[in-house]
Amino acid sequence: MSCYQCPLCHLPLTLSGNVWSCERQHRFDCAREGYVNLLPVQFKRSKVPGDNQEMMRSRREFLDAGHYQPLRDRVVELIRDLLPARSVDWLDIGCGEGYYTAALAAAVAEHPGGGEVYGLDIAKTAVRAAARRYGQVRFCVASSQRLPFTDAALDGILRIYAPCNPAEMSRTVKPGGRVVTVTPGPRHLYQLKARIYPQVMLHPFKDESFDGFTAKHTQSLGYRMDLTGEEAAALLQMTPFAWRAAQDVTARLSELAHFACETDFIIRVWRRDAADYIPDSTV
Ligand SMILES: C[S@@+](CC[C@H](N)C(=O)[O-])C[C@H]1O[C@@H](n2cnc3c(N)ncnc32)[C@H](O)[C@@H]1O
Ligand SMILES: [Zn+2]
Repeated sequence: MSCYQCPLCHLPLTLSGNVWSCERQHRFDCAREGYVNLLPVQFKRSKVPGDNQEMMRSRREFLDAGHYQPLRDRVVELIRDLLPARSVDWLDIGCGEGYYTAALAAAVAEHPGGGEVYGLDIAKTAVRAAARRYGQVRFCVASSQRLPFTDAALDGILRIYAPCNPAEMSRTVKPGGRVVTVTPGPRHLYQLKARIYPQVMLHPFKDESFDGFTAKHTQSLGYRMDLTGEEAAALLQMTPFAWRAAQDVTARLSELAHFACETDFIIRVWRRDAADYIPDSTV
């Protein structure tokens, strides 16, 4: 059974051949690469929403070099310990080019209960690149503001640096399910920011809360990255600071032989409450 729901009428979607469709005959073709576009044009706020191709390429290049592997390993280890013994369905929101999604899928494939991993992003170029490389994940183009998943379908959601809609998370995650988030800590990429801003403001430590979820666990992960100038320039391109940085900041960074930079990630786990959950049927 798939967890997808029709973005137009909200009935469940089933796959037949290469087409996902609902009982009302709304149809969504799988692209050649295997992903499905569940973002109807009327829900698009811009023509090319999400990260652009250049940001996506920079992110892939940087992630492929392994600089965020400690984060990936930590997150996957954490989720692996949370998985119930049965089959599970997890979603990576704002999955980008699929770096973390694929590692999560590998963990679920080894999980005795098995299961399915979904990756969702609003940027078609990122989803296309993700689907082309990672065939074991179900990727879709959609917005995190309207998740194309049925109510209480998911055992968990992973959200790494991506926007989300808390009401949609509480609708789609099962009671007792989890949300795992990664956000930047106060010193994240301090040295990179020092290249852009005359005075670096430490990232404020924000206490987040989501209605319908209880915070269960918080940990931080920080380490020093030793980058080449080219890698530092790629890192800049995949961050929101790239908007602010003048061209010459990137050019000067890429000429450096070596650039040391701190990471500081905050990893949080929330558990979906059961109290306000009313099942559709009592059967
Ligand atoms: C900073 S990137 C993080 C990507 C990936 N999680 C990673 O850490 O490599 C944020 C991602 O969120 C996506 N995004 C932005 N707005 C979105 C939305 N409304 N719905 C779904 N994805 C969105 C972007 O396209 C981008 O891929
Ligand atoms: Zn429909």
